[in-house]
Amino acid sequence: MTLIAETGPTVFETVESEVRSYCRTWPTVFERATGSRLFDEHGRPFLDFFAGAGSLNYGHNNPVLKRPLLDYLGGDGITHGLDMSTTAKREFLETFRSTVLAPRALPYKVMFPGPTGTNAVEAALKLARKVTGRTTVVSFTNAFHGMSLGSLALTGNAGKRAGAGVPLTHTVQMPYDRYLGGALPDFHWFERLLEDSGSGLDHPAAVIVETVQGEGGVNPARAEWLRGLADLCRRRDMLLIVDDIQMGCGRTGDFFSFEEAGITPDIVTLSKSISGYGLPLSLCLFRDELDVWEPGEHNGTFRGNNPAFVTATAALDAYWRDTALRDRTLRRAATVEAALGELGTAAAPRGRGLVWGLEFEDGERARAVCRRAFELGLLVETSGPRDEVVKLLPPLTVTDDELDEGLGILSRAVRHTA
Ligand SMILES: Cc1ncc(COP(=O)(O)O)c(C=O)c1O
Repeated sequence: MTLIAETGPTVFETVESEVRSYCRTWPTVFERATGSRLFDEHGRPFLDFFAGAGSLNYGHNNPVLKRPLLDYLGGDGITHGLDMSTTAKREFLETFRSTVLAPRALPYKVMFPGPTGTNAVEAALKLARKVTGRTTVVSFTNAFHGMSLGSLALTGNAGKRAGAGVPLTHTVQMPYDRYLGGALPDFHWFERLLEDSGSGLDHPAAVIVETVQGEGGVNPARAEWLRGLADLCRRRDMLLIVDDIQMGCGRTGDFFSFEEAGITPDIVTLSKSISGYGLPLSLCLFRDELDVWEPGEHNGTFRGNNPAFVTATAALDAYWRDTALRDRTLRRAATVEAALGELGTAAAPRGRGLVWGLEFEDGERARAVCRRAFELGLLVETSGPRDEVVKLLPPLTVTDDELDEGLGILSRAVRHTA
């Protein structure tokens, strides 16, 4: 089924680079969006179980966030301010402290490294190396941490790595939770390399981990594995960085995805849904004693996205002053798991909160499911090293009816492609 009228090449095809990708998965022209739905220019609705790759946890154009944003813009509030002090930034920092840091007794300073997730990862790497004076950073099989060179060196996917054009250095990959199918005790290989002066592993500055690998195929690490990792980092003098760019801001239930495991990372990266509105904003959080930056040592033009501060403050006020959103997300995990479990796919559905993965026998089948879902009015994307996993990432604000509707469409798409 073709949704773009066949009237010759579009401006997207003739002017925009071949690098474009999501527009190939969803071949229509989107015009507006509200809540959990996008509409194309023909008025056709699409239920959004992609949520801006995790950037729209509170849905599209959420009125609770839109009103303060419109008021701010209407009042000529500062839009661009580098890292100048502004009223919008003050309100954000005060609200972040009172709703996120203080209730969890988290000892973090907040750095604004640049607008996107990969900027936060690069800042975390630079800081870990500066603090420890070491260069090697450990990441895990099937990790995804971004597309700039430092982040790409941590990323597992061979296709993405191949695009770098230069050697990706100063990183070492270790097996993620269950990568070896339980063949060895957790961290056996990692510990062995660390304790053996003949192993060739330079003592790492830090270890970076996603608690649930999103792009890597929706692989949730067990809480005990994460606790084991935190313990290993403490015993072996390595900083622990949790990359919460996709799984933070309530995606797994709690505000931070590592809360369930009861660990406190040394450094945390946050982006995607922190602005709440899909506006670019990212944070690098680190323990107070790691704040060894010289003024301006790491800078950038777009660090203080003030409209994003306004929507981020509104989102924290609306959703993180109590546990209602968290509790609802955790309750819904069971609904989604049960519905997906009935689809009889290659492996049991896996996920936490409102991020779920459905593994198929190969990427071709998973892509066919996404194509059929699109035709039926649902946006879902694939992930995993062979694109073999259909990833569900609905807005956390999705209604019960919308959740049922999306799961119903997915079920039809799976049956259709069997
Ligand atoms: C865990 C994780 N880290 C980093 C990034 C990179 O973020 P960005 O695409 O905003 O640079 C992503 C993006 O998907 C991610 O999922």
